Amino acid sequence: MVRHMFSNLLLLWSISHDLYITGLTHHKPKEQSWNNQNLYAVPLDLDVRLRRLDLSNNFIRQLHTLALPYLEQLDLSANQLDLISEGAFTNLARLEELNLSRNGLNNNLGSNGKALQSMSRLRSLDISMNGLRDDAVGLYLRNKSSLDQLKMTGNALTRLSHNLFKDSKGLRAITIDNNQISVIEQGTFEPLSQLEMLNLAKNNLAHICDFKLTQVKYLNLSQNSIEFFVTREDDQLYRLESLDLSHNKLLYFPIVPKMNRLRYLHLQNNMVGALNSEATMVSEANALYSEIMREKTARKNYLHSNWKLMQLIYIDLSYNHFRSFPLETLSRLFSLETLNFSRNCLQNITWNIRKDESGYRRQLFFPSLKYVDLQSNGLTYISPLFLKALTRIETLNLQDNSVQPCASKDQSMQQTNLSTSCVVFGQLRTLKHLNLKENNIKMLHPNTFLKTSLVSLNLARNSHMVMQEGALEGVHKTLQSLIISEINMTSSDLSLPCMPVLTELNISNNHLDLIPSSLSCSPLKEIDIRNNNFATLNNSLILDLSLRLNLMYISGNYFNCCDSKWLILLHEAKIQLPDVGSTVCFTSDRNVAMIGYLKNPSVYCLFRTKAQEIHFGTVIIIVLFVTVILTVFVIFTRKVCCTQRSFIV
Ligand SMILES: *[C@@H]1O[C@H](CO)[C@@H](O)[C@H](O)[C@H]1NC(C)=O
Ligand SMILES: *[C@@H]1O[C@H](CO)[C@@H](O)[C@H](O)[C@H]1NC(C)=O
Ligand SMILES: *[C@@H]1O[C@H](CO)[C@@H](O)[C@H](O)[C@H]1NC(C)=O
Ligand SMILES: *[C@@H]1O[C@H](CO)[C@@H](O)[C@H](O)[C@H]1NC(C)=O
Ligand SMILES: *[C@@H]1O[C@H](CO)[C@@H](O)[C@H](O)[C@H]1NC(C)=O
Ligand SMILES: *[C@@H]1O[C@H](CO)[C@@H](O)[C@H](O)[C@H]1NC(C)=O
Ligand SMILES: *[C@@H]1O[C@H](CO)[C@@H](O)[C@H](O)[C@H]1NC(C)=O
Ligand SMILES: *[C@@H]1O[C@H](CO)[C@@H](O)[C@H](O)[C@H]1NC(C)=O
Ligand SMILES: *[C@@H]1O[C@H](CO)[C@@H](O)[C@H](O)[C@H]1NC(C)=O
Repeated sequence: MVRHMFSNLLLLWSISHDLYITGLTHHKPKEQSWNNQNLYAVPLDLDVRLRRLDLSNNFIRQLHTLALPYLEQLDLSANQLDLISEGAFTNLARLEELNLSRNGLNNNLGSNGKALQSMSRLRSLDISMNGLRDDAVGLYLRNKSSLDQLKMTGNALTRLSHNLFKDSKGLRAITIDNNQISVIEQGTFEPLSQLEMLNLAKNNLAHICDFKLTQVKYLNLSQNSIEFFVTREDDQLYRLESLDLSHNKLLYFPIVPKMNRLRYLHLQNNMVGALNSEATMVSEANALYSEIMREKTARKNYLHSNWKLMQLIYIDLSYNHFRSFPLETLSRLFSLETLNFSRNCLQNITWNIRKDESGYRRQLFFPSLKYVDLQSNGLTYISPLFLKALTRIETLNLQDNSVQPCASKDQSMQQTNLSTSCVVFGQLRTLKHLNLKENNIKMLHPNTFLKTSLVSLNLARNSHMVMQEGALEGVHKTLQSLIISEINMTSSDLSLPCMPVLTELNISNNHLDLIPSSLSCSPLKEIDIRNNNFATLNNSLILDLSLRLNLMYISGNYFNCCDSKWLILLHEAKIQLPDVGSTVCFTSDRNVAMIGYLKNPSVYCLFRTKAQEIHFGTVIIIVLFVTVILTVFVIFTRKVCCTQRSFIV
């Protein structure tokens, strides 16, 4: 029985062993890399069974017939290839992926063209960075009925003609960024029914007058000189999901297809908002539409009627020219979750919208908006009606503005008195992350954030800010991260409440010399106390904190070497101190690198104190001794004098 099992096991072992060996020998020749080997020609002794061959980054100038019948992928990128002989590829019957980027294929068009035309099975072709002009590309793309992906980055194309892709109608992804294309003929991309991804970034396109590509999902038109983007209103469903029009010269929002699947709209670095008001912009965009489409019928608000149907979740409007917030337009985006409005010139957000028929100020809402970035807008005022419209806001970035948070007594008054220029945060019940860095805040009043559910708060670089006691009242139980760096606070200015869930604290770049002892309440994991006036840290507090602490930054303080038990405690608790190498501490006569000190505290400090004590003691004893001697001497001499005098007298 046992023997039987044993022989079975042996058999099993030998089978798997065999399989392993044969598997190995079969796999070996599949792939070979000659990347960066200083080759000037294709090696002669290539294994005919190769499936992948990498010859990239060499100095190969010419390519002659390759006989590799199983080859599927060939990478010849970054060589100096300028001549491919006509029949070079005819024996590569299985080749599917060819990378010819970074070569000199703008030469010998006749021969190269014939070679490239002989490969109708190709699925992926990269001819980027070859200095190719329109005619060369026209030749190279013939007979490519299987082509799925095409990359032509960094060539010299200027015009895309309607028959450029006539032999490659199955293309799914086309990248032609970084050329000089200024004209795209009607019918160039329309017949490519599989086309999903089209990248035309970094070209010279000036207008998109009549967008018709219903099939495209990802369209990148970034870094052109586009002034407007207009789609004719029809009842077709456009599959467009992501449109990148960033870094152009847009003055208006794009007029998108009426029925689309747009989720991501990138409009950063344009001139949208440069026209005076939102109303002007909308009416000019609509007028432009009518002009382009030669509409004679009554004017209609094409822009807004199409925007209302969009399921957009992300819009980037940073680096535009808005001076007022486009409330009417953006409030139509019911699905919008992320709005990037940083680096415009808003100054204030007023609730300047048309009144309804009964003369009431309408309340619009942004029902899905969670992330709002308003950094660097020069904001001084935000209407409470605007904040009220942000019913699901979670993250609000107001860094680098001039916003003054209201005192809580103003907060209720603000509802009625709209001319007060402070901002009411108290009503943002869903708010979790608030960045108020660099706002030149003067005063943080008690209860400023009451009724929010703040998890992180950044108050850094408000260099004149006075933080009143109770400023964090109401959020002390939810705050997990607090940044109060670069405020020039002294320890008497800083009183923090007990914050039972705080895990990250940054109090760097102040004038603090005491860590608030209320922090013993907090399960801190990370604390930054760099660049303050600390001479020592409270040992029992450090002991409390070290149970949870992972990371602590300490450099740039005036630590006393001889009062640094706290450091030994941190060291023993294995807390990471990434900047301990650049931390120094001071003794009475010099400063010592903390690392050196840590290695051998007694050499630097304990010994020194003892030596000083001895020295001091000795001095006292000597002084005492001398005094006694002198006294004795004086008394003695006096006595002698007296006796002498009396003797004389
Ligand atoms: C072609 O090779 C270059 C490297 O030279 C690489 O950056 C590029 O992604 C490759 N093209 C394709 C389609 O893989
Ligand atoms: C197109 O490619 C096939 C092989 O895939 C070849 O037989 C044919 O001659 C090519 N046509 C041209 C015009 O080069
Ligand atoms: C569009 O292309 C530009 C330039 O190549 C690139 O920086 C950007 O990330 C692309 N946009 C998207 C949405 O991928
Ligand atoms: C908003 O845009 C700015 C500048 O383009 C960028 O730095 C920032 O990360 C963006 N914010 C968000 C939330 O995407
Ligand atoms: C809004 O800003 C302008 C200057 O840009 C100022 O004149 C106006 O008083 C501000 N409005 C409010 C309500 O603060
Ligand atoms: C509103 O505030 C302004 C300035 O803060 C003040 O002059 C005015 O009296 C207030 N109005 C009401 C109704 O409280
Ligand atoms: C703390 O804030 C300062 C800016 O004042 C910054 O340089 C530093 O990186 C912050 N510390 C951490 C740990 O993020
Ligand atoms: C705050 O400190 C910075 C650098 O520490 C200094 O430049 C600035 O003048 C100080 N401001 C005040 C108001 O003390
Ligand atoms: C040191 O911290 C403890 C809390 O851990 C506190 O009770 C004590 O008062 C602090 N000592 C000083 C000198 O601040």
